[in-house]
Amino acid sequence: MRAVGFDVNGGPEVLRPVELPVPEPGPGQVLIRVAYAGVNYGEVQHRLGDFGPPDGITVPGMEVSGEIAALGDDVAGLALGDHVAAYLPDGGGYAEYAVAPADFAFPLDGISLRDGGGAALVLTTAYGVLAGAARLTAGDSVLIHAAAGGVGSAAAQIARALGAAAVHGTVRTPEKAEYAKRFGYDAVLLRDTFPADLAATGTEVDVVLDPVGGRTRLASLDVLAPFGRVVVYGDAAREPDLSLPVLPLWKQNRSLSGYNIGDLGRRAPSVVRGHALAALSLLASGAIRLDVTAELSLAAAFQAHHALEEGTSRGKVLLAIA
Ligand SMILES: NC(=O)c1ccc[n+]([C@@H]2O[C@H](COP(=O)([O-])OP(=O)(O)OC[C@H]3O[C@@H](n4cnc5c(N)ncnc54)[C@H](OP(=O)(O)O)[C@@H]3O)[C@@H](O)[C@H]2O)c1
Repeated sequence: MRAVGFDVNGGPEVLRPVELPVPEPGPGQVLIRVAYAGVNYGEVQHRLGDFGPPDGITVPGMEVSGEIAALGDDVAGLALGDHVAAYLPDGGGYAEYAVAPADFAFPLDGISLRDGGGAALVLTTAYGVLAGAARLTAGDSVLIHAAAGGVGSAAAQIARALGAAAVHGTVRTPEKAEYAKRFGYDAVLLRDTFPADLAATGTEVDVVLDPVGGRTRLASLDVLAPFGRVVVYGDAAREPDLSLPVLPLWKQNRSLSGYNIGDLGRRAPSVVRGHALAALSLLASGAIRLDVTAELSLAAAFQAHHALEEGTSRGKVLLAIA
């Protein structure tokens, strides 16, 4: 089968077409003939080496849509030919065929394969960050960094669907701020002027979603309302980690929490599944939508990575494979 992978860390050019055997599903797994693969910032960081060196040819891709082409032993509730969106904890999505745990292959009832291709990681993460880690409740106010990206644009809509009273965002450029308005933000600010712009309006928020890190993370603590929480779920800025004293959390009624789908999928797969199904039902009902802004061929995966790495992508970027 055709796939795209890398065997050395580096820039987008290390992604190259490879021919690999079609993988076989083991017990509790399904084989998917991939229609679309979502491209995610975590895959860019993986390629860059932030998560360590590759072990031989590594095929990235943590979410796909497609049809079930084979079932491993002990799989119930799925049948050959079913259209699914799947979260792939071990990657492998930039390929004609991919293996997924059956627990993380979600039927696409009323959702197109195209939308499904960018849903399983992105929507599950956005839902899990808000409902799980942030414990969002109706009436909360939310601030989302990287507001115009895949997870950010989904999180804005899911926050609203879960009853958030106000949803603010930050982005790097005025163009992205303009673009992000379509997701229902009350205001989208530039991160260069954060937190001064927000503080100037006297705004405090209950929840901050922070996949950026560094200075942005530190400043986020200062915009929390009493009992507010900053949820850490990425380090897109690739700045050094923070070293923070804990006593100020006590003195100022603040919380820091984290979300990691990989860890959650290993230790509490039913929670990941629950978040995925809840988010997909919001997509199927039209309460939220995915904004696919680019659809590239498998061979052009390096272009998608270039855009994500440069920070020029918006919404969701897909590879059209089948
Ligand atoms: N913890 C988890 O389980 C989990 C799961 C999925 C995704 N994530 C994280 O969620 C975040 C969003 O993922 P995504 O795939 O949807 O990506 P994305 O948001 O579509 O793209 C990455 C975003 O990072 C922001 N960014 C900040 N500093 C950057 C820099 N120096 N270079 C490039 N981009 C920078 C960009 O927004 P601006 O232009 O506004 O800065 C860009 O929108 C990522 O940090 C990812 O690692 C975490």
